Order: sequence, then structure tokens, then C-alpha cells
Amino acid sequence: MTLRRAYAARRFTDAYEQAMDGRYQVTRNMSDKVLAPAALAKAAEGSEVLFCCLTEKITAEVIAHLAPHLKVIATLSVGLDHIDLEAARRFGVTVLNTPDVLNESTAEVAMMLILGACHRASESDQLVRSGGWTGWAPTQMLGLGLSGRRLGILGLGRIGRQVAKRAAPFGLEIHYHNRGQLPPEDEAGAIYHPTSDALLRHSDIFCITAPSTPELKGFLDARRIALLPKDAVVVNVARGDMVDDEALIAALKSRRLFAAGLDVYRGEPNLDARYRALPNAFLLPHIGSATIDTRNAMGFLLLDGLRAIEEGRRPHNQVI
Ligand code: DGY
Repeated sequence: MTLRRAYAARRFTDAYEQAMDGRYQVTRNMSDKVLAPAALAKAAEGSEVLFCCLTEKITAEVIAHLAPHLKVIATLSVGLDHIDLEAARRFGVTVLNTPDVLNESTAEVAMMLILGACHRASESDQLVRSGGWTGWAPTQMLGLGLSGRRLGILGLGRIGRQVAKRAAPFGLEIHYHNRGQLPPEDEAGAIYHPTSDALLRHSDIFCITAPSTPELKGFLDARRIALLPKDAVVVNVARGDMVDDEALIAALKSRRLFAAGLDVYRGEPNLDARYRALPNAFLLPHIGSATIDTRNAMGFLLLDGLRAIEEGRRPHNQVI
């Protein structure tokens, strides 16, 4: 298959854009503003490849509008919840994503969230910046140490395992829940819980790394938060729609939970404004994969996948 015309829905790293331009006739959204589905469909008309990322809602309407020219959607994300995969399948459009290459960066950010939430990083930073710091005090900014605590990971997959690997040397005991128990070499000593309820009961720090699926939407609700030990910490590097914001905000406000570290939000960037006012919420702007090397590697993986398709091979990052 020969692919020529492409539409790039966002600006990407220089190296990725240059490589993309070297291979395809690319029309680019120079504004870098997120396009609503109708505007995206119009802008990408006639393209055979759509380079996008998690900010574009690739709805059935977008795909129907771009068919039959559109052959491949190449999303700079491992997450796929922004794409109507069923519609892509129906219209014979291939979808490529970026697994594996962002595992380490995302795991590092998860560790930053764990440390930042437990050691009150936002509040501490704010105290210094505000000029309100009056000096060291024995009871000031008391946080939670990691050593001897239990880290519960929902979804010990590619990213979850990298989090576990980094968390263990901090003295955290690793617990997890997946649909099935992993083989010992993948568990690497982590303790399996056959239900998510059991995992929640054993999580002093509860970290979500599972992909967002329809079954997991609103997963961390009031009932499940109540299963966490008192003073637990919640961390999310997966997708915001897996958390019931109302319930999490209430638990942070009442101090039933000690803190939360969040990189992802429902409806981002328009997160529930009440998070901003919570001193015990350590908030990052979805930077799990935000290193130059990682974003380049994600882009090159998509280009490798496109090359494979053009040569009649099935790339390992082909979703459908
Ligand atoms: C993804 O790839 O889905 C991540 O959320 C981007 O950081």
C-alpha cells in the first residue's frame, strides 16, 4: 500500500515532524489548537494518514467523513479512548498507537506523584513561594514516608510493572489486581488480589495504571474509596474518567484520604475546579510521557508502523 497525503492534527516534536515531512505530504494544524470533530473532519479531508493524539475525538462521524481516503489513524498515545475503534473497524481504517516506549517516563511521573502527594510537595512549594514560611518547626508539613507502606497497583501491565520496579527500592510492598494473576516473572514479588475490592483494602497508596475501558469508567467511587485504609493516598496516571471526582474531592476535603497525586482528569484540561483549592491534591498537567526522548520515540514508533503497513507487514503497534 502506498500512503502519501497526511494530516497532522497537532504540532509534534521537531524530530518527529521532520521525519513525518520526509515521508508524507503533510498538511499541519499550525495553530496547535485542539480541533472539534467537525473541524478536524473538514481539515483532514482527502488524507490517507491522520496523525493525532489523545486530544482529538476521532468519532464515528469523523471517520465516516474521511472514508474512503483515510487508511491509517496514527495516534501519539497508548490510550485509545478518544477513538471510536468500532467505527474504524467498520470503515477498514487501521489504528496505530504507541505502547511500551512511554512506560518508563510514565512510571517516573507516577513516582513523582506518589512522593509529591505523600510529602506534601504542592503545599510545601506554595509555602516557600508565598513568603509565608516562618522557619523550621517540629510539626511543620508532616507527611507520609513510603518505607513499609503498601502500594496497590490497579493494572500491573506495561506501565504498572515499571512503577512497581521503581517503588520497591523505596521500601513499598507491592500489591496488585489484574483480571488474572501474572506469571511469577512478571509479578516480581508483587502480591496478587483476585478482586479490586481486596486490593483497595490493602492499599496505603492506590495507583491507577490500568487502561480506561467502559467497565472502569467511574471506578474509584465513594464505595471503593471507603474500602481504602484511613489516610490512604490515591494516584492516577491512567485516565481521569476512572475516578468519580465528587467522591474523591469529598474524601480529600474531609481528610478521609491523606492526599491525591493526579496527572489526568475527567474533561481535561477543564478539571473539576474544586481540585485546585485542595491543599492535599498534588496536580500535574498530564505529563506522563512528556520527555523529548519519549515523545520522539512515540512518533518514530508510529512511522515504523506506517512503514510496515506500506510494506505489507503487520506492525506490533497495530490495534486494528
Ligand atoms: C497516553 O499515551 O495515552 C498517555 O496518556 C500520554 O501521556
